[in-house]
Amino acid sequence: NTVPVIAIDGPSASGKGTVAQRVAQRLGWHYLDSGAIYRLAALAAIQKGVALTDEPALAKLARHLDISFAHNHIYLDGETVDDAVRAEETGNAASAIATLPALRAALLDRQRAFRQAPGLVADGRDMASVVFTDAKTKIYLTATAEIRAQRRYRQLLEKGLLEQADNAIFDRILQDIRDRDARDSARTVAPLQQSTDAALLDTTELGIDEAVNQVLALHHRNP
Ligand code: C5P
Repeated sequence: NTVPVIAIDGPSASGKGTVAQRVAQRLGWHYLDSGAIYRLAALAAIQKGVALTDEPALAKLARHLDISFAHNHIYLDGETVDDAVRAEETGNAASAIATLPALRAALLDRQRAFRQAPGLVADGRDMASVVFTDAKTKIYLTATAEIRAQRRYRQLLEKGLLEQADNAIFDRILQDIRDRDARDSARTVAPLQQSTDAALLDTTELGIDEAVNQVLALHHRNP
């Protein structure tokens, strides 16, 4: 496959989704949110009563997932599931099933199917190391856990989901981020780590526009 890929990996709440989406927009390329695929598999398992530890059943379910991304909505079995996909419990369930090799293998072709002309920007944990090893540009996008927790917390405030500033909620978000990092990094299959051939982009002190520009600059540097 000669279609170019920009692979952006990194921990949860690093902003890689927003950055990847904007880079795709600027280039007029396709976009793959691979985390959403894992989240949809988890959601389907919960809806269908498949245990999150039943590896063969989960792999089978993953091969037959009926999902689509259209007009800024996410569909599972023909129903929009945008809010359910984003829910914290779904993220935790996704991270649990993501430790299972057969489940990961079952989702490979589905992710690779997004590689279509003129190009693809893909974000996740193992885009550079497993799914698109031949990606033209590989980036590891990260920020400190505290900054990622702050960004997530501010989003809740901005969306009006918090009545007032609440330190206990901030602390819980930070703890969740640390737990998820530990789980995603410690697993034996496709652990979250910076590929040796990926450029490091630390956004702790970068706004979204600057991060997008740096990704585009790295991409244009690799003809
Ligand atoms: O990125 P997001 O938070 O949506 O991903 C949810 C979970 O799916 C992650 O915590 C991770 O365990 C898993 N995942 C993965 N490989 C990917 C993308 C996501 O294992 N490429």
